[in-house]
Amino acid sequence: MTSSPARPGPGEGARGSGGAGPAARHGDALALLTAEFDGGRGVWRSAPAGGVCVADPEAARAVMGNRHGVVADTSDFYHHRNGVFGPRSAQVAVGRAARLLIQRHLRERQADLPRLVEELPAPRSEWPDAGNLLVLRHLRDVLLHPDAPPHLHTTVEAIVSRAVLAGARRRHSAPSRLLFRRRALSALHAEIRARQRAPLPPGHPAGPRDLVDVVVGGGGPTADPRELVEVYLSFLFATAGSIGFALGWSVLLLGTHPERAAAEPAWIVREALRLWPVAWLFARTPSRAQELGGVRVTPRDRLMVCSYLVHRHPGYWERPDEFVPERWAEAPPDAAYLPFGHGAHTCAGATVAVRLLEDLVGLLTRDRRVSVAPVTADSAGPQVGPALAPPRFTATLSRPDGCPERR
Ligand code: HEM
Repeated sequence: MTSSPARPGPGEGARGSGGAGPAARHGDALALLTAEFDGGRGVWRSAPAGGVCVADPEAARAVMGNRHGVVADTSDFYHHRNGVFGPRSAQVAVGRAARLLIQRHLRERQADLPRLVEELPAPRSEWPDAGNLLVLRHLRDVLLHPDAPPHLHTTVEAIVSRAVLAGARRRHSAPSRLLFRRRALSALHAEIRARQRAPLPPGHPAGPRDLVDVVVGGGGPTADPRELVEVYLSFLFATAGSIGFALGWSVLLLGTHPERAAAEPAWIVREALRLWPVAWLFARTPSRAQELGGVRVTPRDRLMVCSYLVHRHPGYWERPDEFVPERWAEAPPDAAYLPFGHGAHTCAGATVAVRLLEDLVGLLTRDRRVSVAPVTADSAGPQVGPALAPPRFTATLSRPDGCPERR
């Protein structure tokens, strides 16, 4: 693990499993922490994982909420190679502008969704990639407005296929990844510089055209374009990556639990995010020596808040390891649920992400039955990287009469 379990850069492709690279280490960390948790530990020092694991829901909220300044104030999202994009007011403004842009797009383009679902490859689609690509297609104009240079559209698509999709790392050699990384960063860098030189007038009636405008507007004309590129990449990973993986988990759980297909789409999405939180590990640094859940920590420690374990804490959840969407019909233990973080740095895109997921799951369950099959016998567990992606599987969407869809 790195100190920040956020997104990798283009070409690093650390979101998938396999190999002895960072992804394998993430997979090891999940297995290790789960074994150490063993059904209920709260906060403990994990020498093999190299930090202090926080799985107790109250302690997790104290760290993430940071009400008493217990940790250095930061979230993963705005980290870049030289530090953190900021000031905080710019972070908040960028997050808000991004949310509003996506919100407007979802509202105006909702009618496109059924067609996108219809266009999933038939009779079988390959997941989780199908979910990432579907989200990419729906949010393409938000990521890059249609009049942006064509080569940049190609670059963004290539970043998704080479760095966002689970397992992308294994598909390319290290030199090829390095070369691609340089080219992709340089193309984004040039576009951001160009827009810094010719910014939209303040109060432009149409607002930002895409997320590049959002980060350029938030950083201003003097911000280092290299840092803005990284913030832009965070948005790319949050949209095509995180929403796509969350959709993949929902489809996988629906396919493996056909008896739950009639559940409310909102419950399915929440339960999928509970069992398999895409953002499964948050790194934080204690601001001072203190006691946390009975463990003495200092600023030299690395805290690892593990939402995956918080979400399965048996002291808070009944049947914690089971897919039970109906549990959301009643007031759930919010205290032990943080798929979008908690406190001041809670995900700025949570509402839009959930809305899109619910719409898509609604479309997938309303007139169809989902059945799934693993791609290989060993592809049962999650693909663990900075994000928790579903294993590879194929999905068949059938009409209620049981016939696979044909086109
Ligand atoms: C299923 C999809 C998503 C998941 C699971 C997710 C998860 C998270 C989590 C857990 C955090 C907190 C990180 C931390 O505290 O270290 C976060 C922060 C953030 N997310 Fe998301 N996210 C998703 C989609 C999005 C989207 C679509 C956007 C676009 C607006 C977005 C924008 C942000 C921003 C700007 C932050 C930083 C908030 C701050 O520090 O003020 N996210 N996200």
